[in-house]
Amino acid sequence: MTPTSPETVSPTAPGRPTGDVAGVPVLAAREVSVRFGGLRALSDVSIEVAPASIVGLVGPNGAGKTTLFGVLSGLLRPSSGRVSLRGEDVTEASPQLRARKGLARTFQQPELFMGLTVREHLVLAHRVRFARRRLLTDMFNPRALFGSKASEDERVDALLELLDLTRVAHAPVAALPLGTSRLVEVGRALAGQPDVILLDEPLSGLDLRASENLTEVFRRVVANPDHQVSLLMVEHDVAAVLALSSTIFVLDFGELIAQGTPEHIRNDPAVRAAYLGEEPPVSRTGTDLAFNGTDAS
Ligand SMILES: Nc1ncnc2c1ncn2[C@@H]1O[C@H](COP(=O)(O)OP(=O)(O)OP(=O)(O)O)[C@@H](O)[C@H]1O
Ligand SMILES: [Mg+2]
Repeated sequence: MTPTSPETVSPTAPGRPTGDVAGVPVLAAREVSVRFGGLRALSDVSIEVAPASIVGLVGPNGAGKTTLFGVLSGLLRPSSGRVSLRGEDVTEASPQLRARKGLARTFQQPELFMGLTVREHLVLAHRVRFARRRLLTDMFNPRALFGSKASEDERVDALLELLDLTRVAHAPVAALPLGTSRLVEVGRALAGQPDVILLDEPLSGLDLRASENLTEVFRRVVANPDHQVSLLMVEHDVAAVLALSSTIFVLDFGELIAQGTPEHIRNDPAVRAAYLGEEPPVSRTGTDLAFNGTDAS
């Protein structure tokens, strides 16, 4: 348990500990169960997300993926089980408190302000996290949004660069294709320097090129030492998840049927049965890609 020295960590949001604690997952669910009336949507499901890693959560329709995201983000209270962030129990914490403690999420349909540019979205997200008081004054003086402080400028510019958004920094988001809007959403989440981002089907609706571009950005973000962020991704494109993630959890009918590396998941009979028992995920390249991805390692 050696906290990283303050000199070596990136700026950390107020109210959160600095540095990683060895061996402690950034996010964990322990034996989580959720009932909707008589239906067990989740049964004793445990998952862990290691620091600075990409973790996939997959499973056929109705498996419980969205329900688990609801429990992790605090929108849904589990019938039993616990959720922790960096080892701290947050099962009773609101979504807002979890966000302040380092949990961010994106939505399948990007929720962007159509009148603002890409850069303004990141500036706004940065201020929500780091200058809440200043944000309040800005609301009464919207022009202040366009004249930001040097450190804020630097961080936002670095983020634009990391996400490959510099060339569209001053474009209104209304004009952007879906893939770029998803990048803006990721940028907004990253602006708050979270420990972990929950990504809800980030590749859905994207063509192959946009999908590859986004997955490349995900790799770059997680490898970036300034961010030290993990991504937990629910995604129907299993091939993409296998190619991108270091660990994958597989749900079926509310139960965790497998977990492990892409190689392990690809060869797991229970996973194959769960997927072959239904229509296999459709590949963008026309072949059966359900288990064809390349390992993240
Ligand atoms: N609010 C709810 N009330 C009752 N049942 C629900 C509710 N939300 C989800 N369910 C049920 O819980 C089960 C798990 O649903 P969930 O939406 O978590 O699955 P999923 O893995 O996200 O599926 P998909 O891939 O189709 O998005 C399903 O049987 C679903 O019908
Ligand atoms: Mg779902």
